Amino acid sequence: MKLNTKLWFDPSRLLVGGTWRDAEGGGSIPVENPSTGEAVASIAAGTPGDVEAAVRAAEAALDGEWGAMTATERGRILIRWARLVEERAETLAHLESTDVGKPITQARNDATALARYFEFYGGAADKVMGETIPYQAGTTVLTLREPHGVTAHIIPWNYPMQILGRSIGAALAMGNACVLKPAEDASLSALAVAALAEEAGLPAGALNVVTGYGDEVGAALSAHPRVHHVSFTGSVGTGRRIQSAAAENVVPVTLELGGKSPHIVFDDCDLEAALPTLVGACIQAAGQTCSAASRVLVQRGIYAEVKAKMAAAYGRLVAGPASGGFDLGPLVSGRQKAIVTRYIAQGRDELTVAAEGRIDDDAPAKGHYVAPVLFADVPADHALAQEEIFGPVQVMIPFEDEAEAIRIANGTDYGLVAGVWTENGARQMRLARRLHCGQVFVNNYGAGGGVELPFGGVGKSGHGREKGFEALYGFSRLKTVSIRHG
Ligand code: NAI
Ligand code: MG
Repeated sequence: MKLNTKLWFDPSRLLVGGTWRDAEGGGSIPVENPSTGEAVASIAAGTPGDVEAAVRAAEAALDGEWGAMTATERGRILIRWARLVEERAETLAHLESTDVGKPITQARNDATALARYFEFYGGAADKVMGETIPYQAGTTVLTLREPHGVTAHIIPWNYPMQILGRSIGAALAMGNACVLKPAEDASLSALAVAALAEEAGLPAGALNVVTGYGDEVGAALSAHPRVHHVSFTGSVGTGRRIQSAAAENVVPVTLELGGKSPHIVFDDCDLEAALPTLVGACIQAAGQTCSAASRVLVQRGIYAEVKAKMAAAYGRLVAGPASGGFDLGPLVSGRQKAIVTRYIAQGRDELTVAAEGRIDDDAPAKGHYVAPVLFADVPADHALAQEEIFGPVQVMIPFEDEAEAIRIANGTDYGLVAGVWTENGARQMRLARRLHCGQVFVNNYGAGGGVELPFGGVGKSGHGREKGFEALYGFSRLKTVSIRHG
């Protein structure tokens, strides 16, 4: 164990029905620190048998203490859990930063956001209400919001704590019993947070964690016939497989599948206010962000100025070890680095490099570092302007007028988030309505914060909404009751 900290849980075990145990068959997966390339721990390689045990434990929780709790009691547990996350935030941030290579300051933000999710959903748990509906004389009709039952949560490695918080927080607040499958590249924080749930008083089986590979544990979980809802964040290809598996059982899915989110910069904007966000919203988490502002659309009249200023900012960017206070850390894995490096090579062959950052000279050679790259004058239909790269790569695209900006912005298969920079109020409203996506930010950008703000996509960015109150509706089903009383 080289995690350089004292832990309150054993990362090599699974949590099933309140018991920490080895994977069936005893398999394990090494945990790599992407800043150094070293193995720092190992996690259990769960199996379909472990998934079956976890689903059974969730069912038992619903039949037992968890299912009998009031919404207020569930909310109080979530709020106690939030406080425990805040108390252990420094260790959680250290684990996350070691596991996924995220700069420690960004990992601290994620721990804070996780606590906010539990706090928000803890407070919201007993404020989800049904309606009474006017109907025939002598009849009263009311609606009840009930949990789905056993919910599956398959989460990725880029924002493990935040995505866990928005998914598990909302599902537990509604009274579901959860089976969580963290990414094989990022399971430490999920295990640590699950161990805190026990301390907060969450009954055994309400939350089960099965670590392991996607094509084994994730596939078994999404195809399990006694899972009633599947929530997934990750790639389009895996999302498609999960939706197909769930379709066999006719259960609902929530899919958040990333994007190619544009920032649209008009010539009347407050450019000095916009600039730090234009760059920051892409290189955050080394570009491995579903809402990364990976396309910057700039109006012709200010294009040269924006390009020069963004290029200057890129020239100052340095990638280095997560603990070292750099602008960006390494990518999560050698596999992710290979994907991103291929895109950068294609861009160098076919496009114009406007500017590049660099990798710190002392960064360990076995770390998965990629220097950030800004491409300019990129045709809107080029692969680098259409496909999610999930690395520190940004493309600049010029446009003439509002109509062209909207056409380019809406011209990908995705539609997650958009940023709009203009001082023209009527234009702000027109764009907010015409952009095809799930969130529009005008003169600000911040999908990652905003625990309160419903979040999700259109098109290949997925469907269903997480975060905010909306997520509680997604993790519940509506029952209509009609009572004839004369
Ligand atoms: P992925 O979508 O395969 O992995 C995400 C999660 O799905 C992990 O927990 C994984 O174990 C699980 N999984 C994998 N195969 C599965 C299956 N057959 N059934 C059920 N679960 C399965 O993504 P991956 O391979 O890690 O990254 C590849 C690309 O996906 C990235 O380059 C990026 O473009 C995109 N991505 C988008 C994310 C987002 O936030 N929307 C997050 C992570 C990746
Ligand atoms: Mg790792």
